[in-house]
Amino acid sequence: MKTIYKTSLENAYRLFESNAIVTIQVGTTKGLKQLHNYLFNELYDFAEKVRTQNISNGGFRSASSLYLNEILVKIETMPKTNFEETIAKYVKMNITHPFMEGNGRTMRIWLDMLLKTKLQKMVNWQFVDKTLYLQAMQRSPINNLESRTLLNANLTDDIHNRKVIFKGIEQSYYYEG
Ligand SMILES: Nc1ncnc2c1ncn2[C@@H]1O[C@H](COP(=O)(O)OP(=O)(O)O)[C@@H](O)[C@H]1O
Ligand SMILES: [Mg+2]
Repeated sequence: MKTIYKTSLENAYRLFESNAIVTIQVGTTKGLKQLHNYLFNELYDFAEKVRTQNISNGGFRSASSLYLNEILVKIETMPKTNFEETIAKYVKMNITHPFMEGNGRTMRIWLDMLLKTKLQKMVNWQFVDKTLYLQAMQRSPINNLESRTLLNANLTDDIHNRKVIFKGIEQSYYYEG
């Protein structure tokens, strides 16, 4: 039996191998849902669905499910013209945590799509240390400086390099393993 983890990882590879990534809307709530659906469609019945329950992650309570749709509309209006704005938007989306599970893996691809489109860059995740990343995300509701510094130090303009993309996906899944 293949695990959910492994099947979703294969879905993530296929998203790029098949070039289905070009059918995903960049940087919107719709795009995020499309990505979640692609990664988890046959695995979770809540694929692409905004959660209706409240959840917490390591003591941090994600946005109340009652306000999720409102918050998502607000995030949609957040600017994304430079690196700082893009990270602020990403951090807000992460704190909002719209899905029951799979937020991290979905959102890192969502972030890279934004960075590629607006800045012709992406995060070279293979070099972003798991502990440092999770610490930065934990800190982000208070201050996103750590996230900005960490991700800025690991940007690459090698955005069409399959090896970089695939190594990045592996690392993103490793964070959640
Ligand atoms: N305490 C925290 N504060 C803020 N963000 C967190 C915290 N813990 C985890 N995260 C974020 O949530 C993600 C995990 O969310 P989850 O829905 O389980 O996604 P996945 O299933 O892809 O791991 C992490 O990658 C990180 O970005
Ligand atoms: Mg998880």
